Amino acid sequence: MRLSRYFLPVLKENPAEAQIASHRLMLRAGMIKQEAAGIYAWLPLGFKVLRRLEQIVHEEQQRAGHIPLLMPTLQSADLWRESGRYDAYGPEMLRFKDRHDREMLYGPTNEEMITDIFRAHVSSYKELPLTLYHIQWKFRDEVRPRFGVMRGREFLMKDGYNFDLTREDALHAYNRHMVSYLRTYERMGLTAIPMRADSGPIGGENTHEFLVLANTGESEVFYDAAVAGLKLGDRQVDYDNREEVADICKEFTSVYARTDETHDEALFDRIPEDRRRVGRGIEVGQIFYFGTKYSAAMGATVTAPDGTKVPVEMGSHGIGVSRLVGALIEANHDDKGIIWPEGVTPFHVGIVNLKQGDAATDTACEAIYGALRAAGFDPLYDDRDERAGAKFATMDLIGLPWRITVGPRGLAKNLVELTSRRTGESEEMTAEAAIARIAEIYAGV
Ligand SMILES: Nc1ncnc2c1ncn2[C@@H]1O[C@H](COP(=O)(O)OP(=O)(O)OP(=O)(O)O)[C@@H](O)[C@H]1O
Ligand SMILES: [Mg+2]
Repeated sequence: MRLSRYFLPVLKENPAEAQIASHRLMLRAGMIKQEAAGIYAWLPLGFKVLRRLEQIVHEEQQRAGHIPLLMPTLQSADLWRESGRYDAYGPEMLRFKDRHDREMLYGPTNEEMITDIFRAHVSSYKELPLTLYHIQWKFRDEVRPRFGVMRGREFLMKDGYNFDLTREDALHAYNRHMVSYLRTYERMGLTAIPMRADSGPIGGENTHEFLVLANTGESEVFYDAAVAGLKLGDRQVDYDNREEVADICKEFTSVYARTDETHDEALFDRIPEDRRRVGRGIEVGQIFYFGTKYSAAMGATVTAPDGTKVPVEMGSHGIGVSRLVGALIEANHDDKGIIWPEGVTPFHVGIVNLKQGDAATDTACEAIYGALRAAGFDPLYDDRDERAGAKFATMDLIGLPWRITVGPRGLAKNLVELTSRRTGESEEMTAEAAIARIAEIYAGV
């Protein structure tokens, strides 16, 4: 993309309504525009990051054997009456009537609808195990939408639902989700710690929330410092191997980490004092095992091997995709702007032409731009007729992790500059070497 042809409405001033860094930076970097309280338009730069996160979520869900589908945002109230949640859900649910006076709602989650799909098409244990998921907009009429996309009213969520014959099978699905989530967050460059949680209106006995440590987080968290250092790394996981998957879950959940809802002071006090941490976290996902809560209420049964009909065992699992954009920025920014991890950056590299209109720099920039694109990269070339300072400020604000700077002085020696947004360090090298370095950096991403 050439910046002169892009739509990047950056703001010079700090928006007064933004209380936290991610909200302020998303507005300033032209990523989102508020359309109503808690409802945002995703401008091109923000949309690109959102799409990238969706892509990672899809890849990791499918790696775990989960199957994508797409359910609508609008649902019928009758479905929710079957589970008893139409009355239980409260004012967070946006309810309305269509022209025929039928009661409808904008889905805050999809347990009822997926159970309805399941019961319409599956009747035998032979079709299990099955995990279906989608990435779809949700609406919850939050009392206090705030912090931009972190607590919106309309927000994008990945929600997945497992269907199994037995409790053991369903617990394996739960574990599979935990591991696939850990892998998802790690690929995004985030450390999200699974913490034992309360089940709330979804119901159920087993549940973990995934929290990104950040002092602007809304949850109070208590943990053993050792948990923050755990990494999946490049381990190959066989998602069908129950023991292997369960062992990974054990590794990540046997170190103390809880939110204020489940915090146990006595257990916490057993951690060596120098490792005890109290802080704040952003909830970026949650997994639940709830057994037959919805299947029993809604008559989603399967024939078991012995011929009896049993309600299917279920769980539901969510990732806050749009909230993650904010969480990523909370975890990766400085006073100049965003610093995208390579795994989620909207463009791989920025190209800054220090002397637009100069035949030599223009030609060199075009060549770098073309070579990067030919190699499969998505560069953002700042080809505007602007001062160098303004170009650098824009690049720093939007946070591309790497920048190639091309100016007449360097070109005279056949050199360009490669700069890391995170460290600020620059290195002079030939254009070919810079392109090769970019390829090296992204090879493992
Ligand atoms: N209002 C919201 N805006 C943006 N993302 C949200 C919002 N509510 C929930 N999410 C995201 O969707 C994920 C799955 O939804 P879940 O039902 O667990 O939310 P929740 O526990 O009600 O969230 P919270 O406690 O933050 O209100 C959450 O972990 C969170 O990342
Ligand atoms: Mg939750």
